[in-house]
Amino acid sequence: MRNSNRNSVIITSALPYANGEIHLGHISSTYLPADIFRRFLKLNGVEVYHLCASDDFGTPVLIETEKKRTKPELYVKYWHDKDIDDFNSVGIVFDSFSQTSSETNRMFVQYVFNVLKKRRLVYEKEVVQYYCEKDLKFLPDRYVIGKCPYCGAEDQYSDLCEKCGRIPEKILDPRCAICGMPPVKKKSNHYFFKLSNFEDVLEKWLKENKLLQQDVKKYVLNWIVEGLQDWDITRDISWGVNIPITGNEKKDKVFYGWFDNHLCYISSLIELLGDVNKAKEIWNSSKIYHFIGKDIVYHHYLFLPAIRMGINEEYKLPDLIPTRGHLMLQNNKISKSRNWYIGLREFVNLFQADYLRFYIASICSYSQDDINFDWNDFEKKINNELIANIGNFVNRTLTFIKKYFRNVIPNPNEYDEADRKSLAEIESIGNTVGGFILGNEIDKALKNILSFSSRFNQYFQKKEPWKKPEQSAATLFISINAVRSLSILLAPFIPFSVEEVWKQMSLEGSIYEQSWKTIGSILLKPGHKLGDIEPIFKKVDTDKIKEQENKLNNS
Ligand code: MF3
Ligand code: ZN
Repeated sequence: MRNSNRNSVIITSALPYANGEIHLGHISSTYLPADIFRRFLKLNGVEVYHLCASDDFGTPVLIETEKKRTKPELYVKYWHDKDIDDFNSVGIVFDSFSQTSSETNRMFVQYVFNVLKKRRLVYEKEVVQYYCEKDLKFLPDRYVIGKCPYCGAEDQYSDLCEKCGRIPEKILDPRCAICGMPPVKKKSNHYFFKLSNFEDVLEKWLKENKLLQQDVKKYVLNWIVEGLQDWDITRDISWGVNIPITGNEKKDKVFYGWFDNHLCYISSLIELLGDVNKAKEIWNSSKIYHFIGKDIVYHHYLFLPAIRMGINEEYKLPDLIPTRGHLMLQNNKISKSRNWYIGLREFVNLFQADYLRFYIASICSYSQDDINFDWNDFEKKINNELIANIGNFVNRTLTFIKKYFRNVIPNPNEYDEADRKSLAEIESIGNTVGGFILGNEIDKALKNILSFSSRFNQYFQKKEPWKKPEQSAATLFISINAVRSLSILLAPFIPFSVEEVWKQMSLEGSIYEQSWKTIGSILLKPGHKLGDIEPIFKKVDTDKIKEQENKLNNS
């Protein structure tokens, strides 16, 4: 039996390939929801590990390094380090951000392979592989482009159809991705993982696990009905984890990237703790969440659990795999090659990171549906909701206390009906919002925070404290405590700004030392002196938005 008394959670975010810049699409499908969740759990005193790493292996990386004539080790290190900087710039925090090419992962992958081999869940088979006679290379995966046998989409990689999301068993009209020539066929010895053995147990696991998203489960179960193919887990290339076979091991054969990458979820915890047994104990007594985008459902709902079952669940299966759709940009598919794309760097040079976090969280539904980044909508949401609602309430409260109470929180004498109602709102809001975050519905969580703030704006407005400042102590006392609650509520969403509010309220330490539970308490006492006040947000300028729209339209 697993020990589930431990209050710990392991969050993993899909590993970004070490071959390109993190863009807004990655942030919205995976990293921001994971980071919001992590921050929320931290505020609740949960022991959290947010694990990620750069996905260093695989043909896309190799193809790029060949084009650029650089060493794969250097190339992936460059992207690994850049990813860390980029994530930092938008406040996305990991407890470990390793590399799939780390020594620990290599060893762990070989260990898993050996266990699978001992349990006869992998077997060797001669396969006929595409080979390019011009480039003198085997052509696995991305090295071959062709037509998807399922949906007929043209120009798809042989390892993934981006149109229908399936993994073609046999791509039609194949071409070499390097030179465009039709490849020939050549024999090679490969290892296969018996995924087909797991149809029944996977089906059982999917059906019994009520936490998995219904809409995803439905089509994954359909894939099982259609039948699962065994997975070829080796590749005839030089960049990857070596296959631990004794004797005449071939240098140009490694594990498939999708065999080793998800194992890095586990190995990065081993690496972080420096102790296999401790890692195993924590892994197996924690709740496990794998955050992913919908394009890697097959790998996470079928392949990954099957491999873990294959090693006898020495490391337990995920409890939840929060899966989200793609981010569209101005209603079109994001595409780097067509320049229909916004890099993370580019964005934070234009606007503060919290604007991005706020906007994306506000449209980020917990579903497979695609969502849309729209510059006009961004402008509206920031100016009308973040600034005119939240910013306004925070600023008017602080300014009023400064102006009429020498910056000191006043002593409330008596409460009326409206005051009591407001106090009750403060008491209950933490549970409401927390419930939504726990259920992964960050957009709804944010909506509730906005209506909380807007009710406080109305309360303030109705009280008209400016008419009789000397009788407004209760209003301001309650309002400033609402600002404190609001800051903690917003901490998972806009971490940079709330730290600023915290400072302006002259509160000690980091907001993360607070507990989510105290959102409902009245902890700011009369007599407390506030700090220097300044508006936290700057309005988004329409011209700047127009510029961005034009830039996209001219690209
Ligand atoms: N690099 C993969 C992608 O971007 C995701 C790997 S997630 C892991 O599609 F679980 F496999 F590590
Ligand atoms: Zn070729």
